[in-house]
Amino acid sequence: MPDKDRTIKDFGKQWLRYSDNEGYYGSLELLSDMLSPFLKPEDLKNCKVAEIGSGAGRIVNMLLESGVQHVVAVEPSDAFAVLVRNIRNPERVTCLKITGDRLPAYGDLDYIFSIGVLHHIPNPKPVVEAAFRALRAGGQFLVWLYGKEGSESYFAFIKPLRIITKHLPHLALAAFVWIFYFPTSFYVKLCRRLPLPLRGYMLHVFGKMSPEKQRLIIYDQLNPAYAKYYTISEAENLLLDRGFINVRTHHRHGYSWTVIGTKP
Ligand SMILES: C[S@@+](CC[C@H](N)C(=O)[O-])C[C@H]1O[C@@H](n2cnc3c(N)ncnc32)[C@H](O)[C@@H]1O
Repeated sequence: MPDKDRTIKDFGKQWLRYSDNEGYYGSLELLSDMLSPFLKPEDLKNCKVAEIGSGAGRIVNMLLESGVQHVVAVEPSDAFAVLVRNIRNPERVTCLKITGDRLPAYGDLDYIFSIGVLHHIPNPKPVVEAAFRALRAGGQFLVWLYGKEGSESYFAFIKPLRIITKHLPHLALAAFVWIFYFPTSFYVKLCRRLPLPLRGYMLHVFGKMSPEKQRLIIYDQLNPAYAKYYTISEAENLLLDRGFINVRTHHRHGYSWTVIGTKP
């Protein structure tokens, strides 16, 4: 099975097992952090938006909470059932069980978001193309990607590990996650005192999650068949190559890239 299909299958299983969006993990506070410094949740009030790769629906619910008029939620995996079940205001959401490249060319969306998705798609260009077509002129596409810069030591550690873990069945992987959970919790404590790699992420994102969500995040790192770590120029070019203008990047917590561009 090609990596792109296996990744979707892997995520389907992941969200069927980790299906809730409780606490900081599903909060408006985290959405503010993800959109910063380009947008604030209040900017989305009464807007028409889409999210590509909605998983279990936490971002969709955050967008609803920030006052959007309507969300198109795209999720191709078996997690679609979880997404539909988790949505708080279904009358303001259209759920589509399709891959991002098949997002209809609405042409009137104000914003499209893709959070933690494009780095799991071996060829993301058709998805960027579909987002471009679905936006109105002046509409903005915001993506969040794993970054290469700032993740070097983590990448050196996780890359060989993933060769094994991405093939493990759920129970074995879940056991593996517990093995990593305790040292990771200790690492978060160390980050409070020392300037260690990924300190910003550990203190401002991971450390604020419940223990269950911390284990989900570890699982999410070890599970998918395909994951790419983007350099800043690769991240920018994703949008520039399709003709987005005013493309800006932010090195979120020093380990990942938030990229935003405008449709001319
Ligand atoms: C890491 S999850 C992120 C979920 C959600 N955005 C969030 O932050 O909670 C990545 C999601 O992208 C979905 N996905 C994978 N390939 C996709 C594709 N080609 N088009 C759209 N979504 C895709 C997966 O099924 C998965 O649910």
